[in-house]
Amino acid sequence: MRDEAKDTWWLRKRARLLEIAGEHLNAYVYDLATVEAAAHRMRSLGAVSRVLYAVKANFNADVIRTLAGAGVDFDCVSPGEVRRLREVLGDEVTGRILFTPNFAPREEYEWGLREGLRVTLDNLYPLSAWPELFSGREVFIRIDPDRGGGHHRHVVTVGAASKFGVSLAELDELVRLVSASGAKVTGIHAHSGSGIFEPDNWQAVASALLKAAKRFPEVRVLDLGGGLGVPHRHGEAGFDLGALDTLLAGFRDAHPDYELWLEPGRYLVSEAGVLLAHVTQTKGKSGHRYVGVSTGMNSLIRPALYDAWHEIVNLSRIDEAATETVTVVGPICETGDKLGTDRILPPSRENDVFLIANAGAYGYVMSSRYNLREIPPEIAI
Ligand code: LLP
Repeated sequence: MRDEAKDTWWLRKRARLLEIAGEHLNAYVYDLATVEAAAHRMRSLGAVSRVLYAVKANFNADVIRTLAGAGVDFDCVSPGEVRRLREVLGDEVTGRILFTPNFAPREEYEWGLREGLRVTLDNLYPLSAWPELFSGREVFIRIDPDRGGGHHRHVVTVGAASKFGVSLAELDELVRLVSASGAKVTGIHAHSGSGIFEPDNWQAVASALLKAAKRFPEVRVLDLGGGLGVPHRHGEAGFDLGALDTLLAGFRDAHPDYELWLEPGRYLVSEAGVLLAHVTQTKGKSGHRYVGVSTGMNSLIRPALYDAWHEIVNLSRIDEAATETVTVVGPICETGDKLGTDRILPPSRENDVFLIANAGAYGYVMSSRYNLREIPPEIAI
């Protein structure tokens, strides 16, 4: 029996989800009202002038339209993401995009500038190797604030072991290269990691960026990046947006010359998405119980890649007692093809519908055709 979180959208809309599962073996389902509510919460932060959605988290057209309608702008890391936005929202979206590629070829910067995108440089290399591209151009510079964190070492984007950003120790060289190229730095950017719950992280990032901003008189924006955590387990507190707003308001009062921007991906879409699958087979082996479902790491790689924990429920048996401890596995030929380990669930039967929660961010977008299994369709409700 699962009653702690009766208020999640997917319990309220269970009948609709079971209907969708009747039509599809596997499916990603997005609840647009949940996306919209998250966008409104972010947009109501008084200290934050602009919220840019990190498109990489989920590039579904309905999700993008919903966020755009709620007043959110966009951070793109590839020409493909820019093209997707234009397909969905039209060319007018160009002015709402920050283009932040990483270790991209020269042609991508040329393309971005030609298209009129606001471009972020996150290495010294483009300025030293291709200074002519940036002459007279407004650019943002991504700094490594050396403050950050994340839910797994793969998603910590600061410090010596991370490939991102210009280190604060390179500021003198940065100033020299900017001035030699004739670029105009109007924003300082950072992204410190993903899945961070401490609101003071962004205050520390802002303070670090200030050191860089002070070196460029035309800087008006400090983009503090994304990374806001989303609770995955019952009873975990949600991200304290109010505390973040208070800390950032304090920073803004002390430094009124700068606008503060945020760039969340996960926070806006994670809870709005679920992955539906069907039970295929069950098995007991050497004291372990397995429940097999019709899709696995090919659809949702986060458990295999980051040991990420996603809530899993048997949607067909939501009112039955959870008496079995099982490992939930997919059909992919790898031992790591697990969606959840040691989950306590009601005994499952073939064709039961399983729901994997919090799959709206970095789910579908990271899926693959590994083993030549189909990627599930996306359905927005
Ligand atoms: N801005 C930049 C420049 C980024 O690189 C990212 C994420 C974000 C914003 C948004 O971060 P968020 O608010 O979503 O944490 N695949 C991993 C997450 C990788 C995040 C990469 N960069 C996962 O499934 O946890």
